[in-house]
Amino acid sequence: MANPSILILAGDGIGPEVMAEVRKVIAWMGDKRGIAFDVSEDLVGGCAYDAHGTPLTDATMAKAQAVDAVLLGAVGGPKYDKLDFSVKPERGLLRLRKEMDLFSNLRPAQCFDALADFSSLKREVVAGLDIVIVRELTSGVYFGEPRGIFKEGNERVGINTQRYTESEIARVAKSAFELARRRSNKVCSMEKANVMESGILWREVVQEVHDRDYPDVQLSHMYADAGAMQLCRWPKQFDVIVTDNLFGDLLSDAAAMLTGSLGMLPSASLGAPMANGRPKALYEPVHGSAPDIAGQGKANPIACILSFAMALRYSFDLGDEATRVEKAVEKVLADGVRTADLMGPEGGTPVTTGQMGDAILAALDASL
Ligand code: NAD
Ligand code: IPM
Ligand code: MN
Repeated sequence: MANPSILILAGDGIGPEVMAEVRKVIAWMGDKRGIAFDVSEDLVGGCAYDAHGTPLTDATMAKAQAVDAVLLGAVGGPKYDKLDFSVKPERGLLRLRKEMDLFSNLRPAQCFDALADFSSLKREVVAGLDIVIVRELTSGVYFGEPRGIFKEGNERVGINTQRYTESEIARVAKSAFELARRRSNKVCSMEKANVMESGILWREVVQEVHDRDYPDVQLSHMYADAGAMQLCRWPKQFDVIVTDNLFGDLLSDAAAMLTGSLGMLPSASLGAPMANGRPKALYEPVHGSAPDIAGQGKANPIACILSFAMALRYSFDLGDEATRVEKAVEKVLADGVRTADLMGPEGGTPVTTGQMGDAILAALDASL
């Protein structure tokens, strides 16, 4: 049987730097665990624009559709700020999400004990935190029509449309309930049903899916603004949060700071099952291309490495190997290995991106 296939799209800025460390982990799996992958590589984002005049070619799109999993680094950067909107690096990523129909974006925020003092919140608020934000990823205001910048009389008007169909809400709700059943059986749905019709529908449909198919799961509803406040006040009240595309984007960056750094947060974007029964999937860190630190060996590769661990779990049915990678990360953090973003106010000497990757490989070796 052919090896499982992975397409790496490292992208821009720190994307290639953090992905180099993931490649080490992939190679380690082959060398030490006999788990080989067919890895191919291609361009997305600004680097694809530089090479082809588009942030994602049709050929790359077709490759992404054909593999078992896509691993993505990050896209974007100031060099591309002035480009026409239609060819901006971010459009490449959005096209991948839309055309692969990756509607359920799992963004876990887990606070490793060794980092509990690095969060901007108090230790007792974040220690032991383990929540997952399920962000709807293929609809809502990111994709709704009409959209654009139009002339209206003497001035311009910028328009985006928040739009959700019942079926779009139902399928992401279902994925959140399924996930909750494998965790603490608790879902909090967030929208703004007090001011938005799409929020009213969201709340109704989530409740209907719950009452029909998941009555055993504890469901609550919260306005997204109050949810943001509660995430900062007492995040451990949550287990699974399900929310729309834009609120999920904002809430997951906020949740990142509960864990100590944006450089810690992985994500899995999952779609419908493929012929092999596994979901169509793309894995990427929550952070971006971090232009302020790109090219300096300062980037934390943990978010990207943990995203690969999610690929092991969700695309390759290798949950034990995923846990092995997660434990290796936990161990290096407990040993005090820190990239610059994880330095506390007392300072210390940070390791480079490559040294963090090597420390994780050493911890993986020690796990055998
Ligand atoms: P960013 O996530 O790139 O950076 C925010 C801050 O976090 C920066 O100070 C950065 O140095 C720091 N940071 C991020 N990742 C880090 C890591 N792994 N290690 C250490 N520090 C890290 O967000 P931004 O600055 O708002 O956006 C920069 C570019 O990235 C923009 O073009 C944006 O559109 C793009 N972006 C892409 C993605 C993606 O590809 N999925 C996600 C977010 C932003
Ligand atoms: C993310 C990013 C993206 C988003 C951008 C780069 C398109 O912020 O993955 O969180 O807004 O979804
Ligand atoms: Mn974001």
